[in-house]
Amino acid sequence: MTFNVGGLKAEQPFIISRLGHFGYHTPDLAGTIRFLTEDLGLQLSDVDDFTTRVPELPKDHATGYFVRCAHDHHTLVIGSQMLVDTREPARKGALVNQLSWQVGSLKQVVDGVDFLDKNARLRRIGRDAPGSNWHAYAYCPDGYVNEIFYGMEQIGWDGRSKPSSMYDRAFHDLPPLPQISEYQEVEDAKARGDDLDGYRYDEERPATYDVEGVNLPQPFKLTRLARVCLFVEDPEASLPFYVDTLGLTVTERREVAGAPSIFLRAGDEHHSLALLPASLKGDFGIGAACSFAVASFQQLRDAYDYLSARGVEMPALPEEMSPGISYGFWVKGPENVAIQIVYGAETYDAGASLPAAMDALPETIVHGGRRWHDPAFLGPLG
Ligand SMILES: [Fe+2]
Repeated sequence: MTFNVGGLKAEQPFIISRLGHFGYHTPDLAGTIRFLTEDLGLQLSDVDDFTTRVPELPKDHATGYFVRCAHDHHTLVIGSQMLVDTREPARKGALVNQLSWQVGSLKQVVDGVDFLDKNARLRRIGRDAPGSNWHAYAYCPDGYVNEIFYGMEQIGWDGRSKPSSMYDRAFHDLPPLPQISEYQEVEDAKARGDDLDGYRYDEERPATYDVEGVNLPQPFKLTRLARVCLFVEDPEASLPFYVDTLGLTVTERREVAGAPSIFLRAGDEHHSLALLPASLKGDFGIGAACSFAVASFQQLRDAYDYLSARGVEMPALPEEMSPGISYGFWVKGPENVAIQIVYGAETYDAGASLPAAMDALPETIVHGGRRWHDPAFLGPLG
């Protein structure tokens, strides 16, 4: 069946344009947030309090954190393992909370609900507050929650998210179309006299690093989520969900540590999703992974030196796990997720080079040109 998606013919009633955000759980919430903010320089855009919703939890586990690197309200969503284990016993022990894919309109999300329900197991639909994104959640065969979303709240120059008084526009069911615009939502909030100042992250570290002309608290800036790596029972068995239901494209199949793995993309990037066999989990000592791009090659080298000097754990994962990534290294906080910091992410047709060794990097390189998927970073570094 062919769908009309904003005037384009498509095999699904939505078109995924990019990987948006990733969520995971941690046994050490404070340690993970410290790692993400103080080591990696990410910022909080909202802190969600679950104390009334899950009163049996100790307060320091009844909190969810929305973490951003750029203007998207959240690029990471972090929750306590104890929170998911208590609140959703069916997902007890789940490390990954969600991976989320952007589509181009509210209509695509709404039209996608039926399609996801027929072709996969639908989890929930509606619109979340904080974050304002309209969404439909579905499970892949391994039980990972994949979200399609539209309309992520954008954090502006003042670094403030929407005030919680505007959460009246959250939805827990299929929204009837059309909906009022975000402009109108703000007008309505003003008319009722809401205080429009939402949460703003307090940076406590001094800005002692000159990062290519701007003073920042660390010598680099993470600019975007480049990919997520998931461990699945059988990558081939996952493909009907990721290809036929979500509409992603296989870029390549490759053995990682001798195990057949599959790399998929949404646009012209080499991949946004790596499906690795679950048999590798034990050897790698992690339960999931993701990659963030930095703003420049210089910042990649500086990030490596800075994080090494801080004694951050740097797992050695096989380079064939990272086809299409020219330069990068892995770090890890107290949770079971490895984070790769990368520069030079290739397009799907560039030949899939593997990352160079960090201890042998030259001082300068030549930009990959059209071989690189290198979206511009909008706005100031900090
Ligand atoms: Fe989400």
